Amino acid sequence: MIKHQEIPKKELFLQVFIFIGVLYTAIEAPLNFTFSFPLEIWRVILDTLIAIIFFIDLQKELKNNSYKENKISLIIDSICSLPFELIFYIFFQNTHLDILQYLGLIRVLRVSRLIKYIQDIALIPQQIKMTVMISFFYICVHFISCLWMLVENVEGLNNLDRYVKAMYWTLTTLTTIGYGDITPQTMFGRIFTMIIMIMGVGLYGIVIGNVSKVIAQKERYKLEAREKITELNDFMKHYHIPEKLQQNVFSYYNNMLNKRLTQNDQKIINELPQALQHELQIYMNIKLIKNLSLFETCSVQSLKEVAMNLKQVFYAPGHNIINIGDIGSELYIISHGSVEVFNRDGKSIAHLSEGQFFGEMALLEERARNASVVAYTYCDLYKLEKEDFLNVTNNHPELLASIQNVANKRK
Ligand code: CMP
Repeated sequence: MIKHQEIPKKELFLQVFIFIGVLYTAIEAPLNFTFSFPLEIWRVILDTLIAIIFFIDLQKELKNNSYKENKISLIIDSICSLPFELIFYIFFQNTHLDILQYLGLIRVLRVSRLIKYIQDIALIPQQIKMTVMISFFYICVHFISCLWMLVENVEGLNNLDRYVKAMYWTLTTLTTIGYGDITPQTMFGRIFTMIIMIMGVGLYGIVIGNVSKVIAQKERYKLEAREKITELNDFMKHYHIPEKLQQNVFSYYNNMLNKRLTQNDQKIINELPQALQHELQIYMNIKLIKNLSLFETCSVQSLKEVAMNLKQVFYAPGHNIINIGDIGSELYIISHGSVEVFNRDGKSIAHLSEGQFFGEMALLEERARNASVVAYTYCDLYKLEKEDFLNVTNNHPELLASIQNVANKRK
């Protein structure tokens, strides 16, 4: 099931440490096995620390009763939490049981649960998903490279050169590029190469598929925008729409796209039940107004009250939002776009933009509008009706003082 709630910090840290532990073991064990490095104390300490992390995870899963239906996971997780290198270091160092120190490699099986954990949490950032995916690919390449070094024993090279050569072979084979400058010399080498060639298509496909999915998701808005603009362009050409009208349409679309409020987003919101739509709208309204200087000193409660009563309205450029002399019954907050304020002589006295508000004077002083306000660009406004305005300002005098302060400066 996909979890949408906030990820508990402790759990997240544990999973990050497990990921690091898996990555370290998956790199260290095959490398040491291939090059037969002696077991040094720092390696023993690191391996023991990783075993402790796995042990903590095992305890947590036991407490949560997670192994009730999956005894195999219990066995694997129990084995993962054994400090194999420490056991080998203390008891078996001078024996022929070398293989014991590499048993920690079983921790790599934990990768599948890590991937499931990431897939279950919808809110996990794409960058983290990409990192895990790339690490998974690297582990596979590393494994195959180490196996290649064991199968095809390359003489006369130092360890680093051997490793780089093996990686190069693995990548050219997996990606099906196959330059052919490194070829298997033994029968086992050829069999191994054939297996990797067949596996390669699948593995490479999985990684490329997932990476392009992540990139495509990230670019979704841009792609939609590009498609829409191309469609619009064709439409304009077909019907020979006048230049001025074309500019207006494009400016409207740019405004929509800047807000990322594509048709798709609106569709997602509209598909929600009414109550959730309302809750989502309030949340978005709070997000909008809490950054405005007008609401800087307001409590969360007053923000919520204002947000609950805001209604969204759109205006095209040149539209009269407020006419001088009219009875005022609402205050407007500019979400996107800008407006021009004109006095009685039709002279522009102010240009108000994103985050500013207007229409407050008539509400505060119970009189007619003292100026006209015209949309300068495509405008997204939030409207607060007089009755709601009076209710909120009655309950929250700090908000009233703030509005009064701005109105006084405008007089
Ligand atoms: P109201 O009188 O209700 O309607 C017209 C609005 O224009 C007015 O409230 C103010 O919000 C706004 N307004 C009037 N004069 C100015 C000004 N000098 N600067 C900015 N905004 C103004």
